[in-house]
Amino acid sequence: MVKTNENGAFFKLDDVSVSYGQIEALKGVTVEVGEGEIVSLIGANGAGKSTTLMTISGILKPKKGKKYFDGEDVTDASADGIVGRGIVQVPEGRRIFPRMSVQENLEMGAFRRHKADTGTLDHVFELFPILKERRGQKGGTLSGGEQQMLAIARSLMAEPRLLLLDEPSLGLAPKIVEDIFATINRINSEGITVFLVEQNAAMALDVSHRGYVMETGKVVLQDTSANLLENEEVQKAYLGG
Ligand SMILES: Nc1ncnc2c1ncn2[C@@H]1O[C@H](COP(=O)(O)OP(=O)(O)OP(=O)(O)O)[C@@H](O)[C@H]1O
Ligand SMILES: [Mg+2]
Repeated sequence: MVKTNENGAFFKLDDVSVSYGQIEALKGVTVEVGEGEIVSLIGANGAGKSTTLMTISGILKPKKGKKYFDGEDVTDASADGIVGRGIVQVPEGRRIFPRMSVQENLEMGAFRRHKADTGTLDHVFELFPILKERRGQKGGTLSGGEQQMLAIARSLMAEPRLLLLDEPSLGLAPKIVEDIFATINRINSEGITVFLVEQNAAMALDVSHRGYVMETGKVVLQDTSANLLENEEVQKAYLGG
């Protein structure tokens, strides 16, 4: 394979622009994620965070710019091709299958994986004991927090190398949010690289190594999460400081 990404980042969006018809939602966005990192993308409503994730996962196509993963130019890869390479997105709003059981939801997650099951279900049940307990229960009857767990667990069934999370804390009680972020930490410590989109900037920066701040389709700031937490502008705009 030709190594096309000269600086060798595990994942990179390079100067990517994306439009919805006449609306330019991303205007030259460059984002890098190193292998093993948790990187967060924070920003207000409509900044372009979900658009960035959907561009990474191949649901949206860049009008301009390049996308690299593991040394390969994947700009033109299909959404299925992206999953096959190991980039898996947990969608905003969870979107589990409400009438299927917890276990069936998880099996759906393994459906697009291009290799045989290697005990992933057992591992996922070990990460999320509550889902094991409720394996026979219909997805739609789970609490909001459990549904978010199920959405993350379902993505893990595809054995991602890069996991994309879109606002995992949305609409959840603080205690549940803490559980979700602890889980993200654990997933990462087991070797999965994480790219996390959040409006909950405090939690996102707390769990991540580095962060990007996005405003109206552009990255306006990037730094270590520790520095961003100390940054006055960031505090004023996103941390209620
Ligand atoms: N399907 C679409 N058609 C047209 N415009 C869209 C579409 N989806 C998003 N947009 C616009 O693109 C911009 C970026 O939207 P995006 O959903 O990426 O923002 P976001 O940062 O994820 O916001 P939120 O925090 O509310 O989820 C917004 O101005 C939005 O109105
Ligand atoms: Mg969004």
